[in-house]
Amino acid sequence: MTQSHDTTPASEIPEPTPEQIGSLLDELAGVELMGMLQSVQQRWGYLPAPVLREIARRTRTPLSRIYGVVSFYANFHTAPRGRHTVRACRGTACHVRGATRVLSAIERTLGITEGQSTPDLEFCLETVACLGTCFLGPVMMIDGEYFGNLTPESVQTILANYGTGE
Ligand code: FES
Repeated sequence: MTQSHDTTPASEIPEPTPEQIGSLLDELAGVELMGMLQSVQQRWGYLPAPVLREIARRTRTPLSRIYGVVSFYANFHTAPRGRHTVRACRGTACHVRGATRVLSAIERTLGITEGQSTPDLEFCLETVACLGTCFLGPVMMIDGEYFGNLTPESVQTILANYGTGE
């Protein structure tokens, strides 16, 4: 299961303007709550607090109920996330092959811990119980791409080059 805690510093959060919120929620008038939340996350990549407050106001739904729904589903996020999702395996097969040192190297290289996004919103970091490729351990996945037999050194190189086309 994916672990995500949405702990990106609030100072980095780009919040939508009231006009943008109004315009999107006008379009979504009549849509049920789940559909609204999905559309909002699609639009901004996360569920900004002012949007949730406005949904509560417009639909006359208690804000606590909306947050209850949001926290129930792992795919909803209340803070912005990095463009690239790094998933580091912390499963047993990877653990015995050095996953702890690999995760530390990822955290050191990106300057974040599990559940956080980098300030430039380039990467977010999650850990998973198994990526299904134990024979490649230690393993991480960036977006849909697997990287196996990792070492702290190779992690640094992969992350430094990721997205630069190298
Ligand atoms: S334990 Fe890491 S991929 Fe299965």
